[in-house]
Amino acid sequence: MNTALRTRPAILDLLREQTRAAHERAEETLPLMDPALGLARYREIVAAFWGFHAALEPRLRAVDGLDALGLDAGRRKLPLLETDLRALGADPARLPVADEVPRVDGLPAALGVMYVLEGATLGGRVISRHLASQGIGPDTGGAFFAGYGDATGEMWKAFAAAIGGYAEAHPESAGAMVRAADETFTLLERWLARAMETA
Ligand code: HEM
Repeated sequence: MNTALRTRPAILDLLREQTRAAHERAEETLPLMDPALGLARYREIVAAFWGFHAALEPRLRAVDGLDALGLDAGRRKLPLLETDLRALGADPARLPVADEVPRVDGLPAALGVMYVLEGATLGGRVISRHLASQGIGPDTGGAFFAGYGDATGEMWKAFAAAIGGYAEAHPESAGAMVRAADETFTLLERWLARAMETA
C-alpha cells in the first residue's frame, strides 16, 4: 500500500521510537502541566520557546523543497509566540535567542526538525486544556500551545503524508531525519533547562 494512504507512515514510528527518551526529558523539564504553574513561570517558558524558534525557523525556511511538499510558511510558530509574549507583557526584541540550534543542511534534516516542531502541536492539545484551566486561552498568551486548534489532527495527517511520501521516495534519508530530530530535541531540552534554571 502507498505510504501516503496510511495514516501513520513507518518513518514516523521510527522517529517516535528514536526520540521517545528525549520527549520524556522535555516533558520533565517543562512544568507546563504543574497545577501551580503561575503566569510568571509560564511567560519564561513561552520566552524560551520563542528564543529557540527565532534561531531555528529562519534556517528551516531557507531550505528548498518544503513548499513543494506542502509544508509551507503557514506552519510558522514565531508569529504565535510573538502574539503570546505581547499578551503576557513581554517584548520579544529584548529576549535571548538560542545560541545552539540544529544545522538544517537539506530537506531530510528539515523534515526531522519539523517532526519535532509539528509533533509538539499534538502535546499542545493536552497542554492547551491545562492552560485553559489556569485562565490562559489563545487570546491571553496561549496561542502557541493552542497551535492549529481544531485543525491540529488534519495538519498532523498532512505532515505525516508529506514526510511519509518523501521517506518512501528517499529511503536513504531516514538516518539524516532521525539525527536532526534527535538533535532538535537535545538542543531544545538544553535551552529550556537553562531558561528554567535562570527563571
Ligand atoms: C509538558 C510538555 C509535553 C507534553 C505533556 C506532551 C504530550 C504529548 C502527547 C500527549 C503526545 C501524543 C499526542 C497524540 O498522539 O495525539 C505528544 C506527541 C508528541 N510530542 Fe509532546 N508533549 C510535551 C512536550 C513536547 C515538546 C517540548 C516537544 C518538542 C518540541 C514535543 C514533541 C512531540 C512529538 C514530536 C510528538 C509526536 C510523537 C509521535 O506520535 O510520533 N512534545 N506529546
